[in-house]
Amino acid sequence: MKNEQVEETINHFDTAGFQADLINWFYQEQRQLPWRENKDPYKVWVSEIMLQQTKVDTVIPYFQRFMKKFPTLDDLAEADEQEVLKAWEGLGYYSRARNLQNAVKEVAASYDSKVPENAKQLGALKGVGPYTKGAILSIAYDQPEPAVDGNVMRVLSRVLLIDEDIAKPKTRKTFESAVKAIISHEDPSAFNQGLMELGALVCTPTTPSCMLCPVQSHCRAFAEGIQQDLPVKTKAKKQKQVGYFAFLVKDKQGNYLIEQRPETGLLASLWQFPMAPLAETDEEHAAQWFRQVYGVDIEISGQVDEIKHVFSHLIWDVQVMEAEVTGGNLVRDSSRFVAAEALEQYPFPVSHQKMLKHTE
Ligand code: ADE
Repeated sequence: MKNEQVEETINHFDTAGFQADLINWFYQEQRQLPWRENKDPYKVWVSEIMLQQTKVDTVIPYFQRFMKKFPTLDDLAEADEQEVLKAWEGLGYYSRARNLQNAVKEVAASYDSKVPENAKQLGALKGVGPYTKGAILSIAYDQPEPAVDGNVMRVLSRVLLIDEDIAKPKTRKTFESAVKAIISHEDPSAFNQGLMELGALVCTPTTPSCMLCPVQSHCRAFAEGIQQDLPVKTKAKKQKQVGYFAFLVKDKQGNYLIEQRPETGLLASLWQFPMAPLAETDEEHAAQWFRQVYGVDIEISGQVDEIKHVFSHLIWDVQVMEAEVTGGNLVRDSSRFVAAEALEQYPFPVSHQKMLKHTE
């Protein structure tokens, strides 16, 4: 949608009334969330990164633990990366944690440990996209900047009757223009958080609670009875399914073989039990494959589990095999034998955490 079209959409919209109804409702009905206790920009930042692609209820305990461990920006900047990944273990999308720490290091080095209030400087930091930038500027620094995520697009697609496809990346710009046109300059923080809160509590995806909605009288989709048809969102491609063997390989001393994933890509730098793609081997040749890749001879006793893990673009189907070392020498630098009790010190992706119950 072009800017003129957004202007037309906003024409005749009761902006002041909408702001007042939204903000008053937010102050009365907002949930008490740990990142709302104060407006420390570091805490706002961490919370907004955790909340991307992750539900509030899941984030709360992670956020609290994270703040105990890294109470200030400098604590996080100085932490060991593995420790940060360990604190993120189970939250998923681990590049968020790595980018966050890189960005925080840059703030410590270049901005005297103060999160920039300048939009350009803030937006140039690793992992700080338009949404995070707008959330920090509005919530922590009271600047009237848009912070448009999926929730906000859903709410405004209904209120303003915008039928652009929210699955398309460029659609976010339309909603940013709309927010710029209607955001409260007196209280941008409550305005943006009010939109998020409304999306979470009232203006929900499948059955919005329009009868309880504080901005029902402003909602064009409700007036036409088409709130359930919005937002328009084309279906994502089906995830590709990939099969693996994972090996719980134990040596004579009871140590388990684990390895660190590469520094880039999926689950970067996390640890896992060795995995063989089913595209490369089968049950009959698995030990041979293992010998070639790890230099270690194993005897596979059998399958103990099957784990399915759904990523945003990928599904892992993992057959978990138990095995014992019978000879050979470990040749893979990224791997090591670790005592069973020490496994918990390493950051594992959720799929591999589930395999820990088969170790002793
Ligand atoms: N979702 C994204 N940001 C949020 C916030 N600050 N509070 C609640 N839910 C959110």
